[in-house]
Amino acid sequence: MSGKEIMFTPVKLGAIELSNRLVMAPLTRMRAIDRDVPNPLAKTYYSQRAGAGLIISEATQISSLGKGYPATPGIYSAEQTAAWKEIVDAVHAKGGKMVAQLWHVGRISHSSLHPEQGLPEAPSAIAPMGQTYGADWKLHDYETPKAMSW
Ligand SMILES: Cc1cc2nc3c(=O)[nH]c(=O)nc-3n(C[C@H](O)[C@H](O)[C@H](O)COP(=O)(O)O)c2cc1C
Repeated sequence: MSGKEIMFTPVKLGAIELSNRLVMAPLTRMRAIDRDVPNPLAKTYYSQRAGAGLIISEATQISSLGKGYPATPGIYSAEQTAAWKEIVDAVHAKGGKMVAQLWHVGRISHSSLHPEQGLPEAPSAIAPMGQTYGADWKLHDYETPKAMSW
């Protein structure tokens, strides 16, 4: 079989049966709406790509403190989960498969992305060198995170 033929043959990846071996890489879009809910347009975006054997979602925070950039989606509230369900249902309706890329960026976050929780949290209170995007979409120096406790 040629490489091209192999690419279009089904394969089982863990528990998931894929119709082909093309995997869409995770791509942060920064288009989530208020409360870190995936944008309704994401349903169109992902379902248009359901022909891939597997879609890996854009990086998706598991808590507001884990947010890495403005307008990245979360998967920690009922509202966010309901929006993801619509997206995944649309991908499944076209025969595609999809997994979530979960992230918590630790000290690489910024307090403006989660003003109610304040500073990012990390194993130690040591600031990274460099800058990151705040909620105003401008670059800011990394902050010294709060050290996490047991
Ligand atoms: C706009 C953009 C957004 C990206 N977002 C993510 C992401 O959310 N998670 C991740 O693991 N990689 C992300 N990546 C890395 C891509 O997945 C990576 O570029 C792709 O796998 C191709 O690999 P290569 O750049 O090493 O050729 C992003 C890349 C780009 C260009």
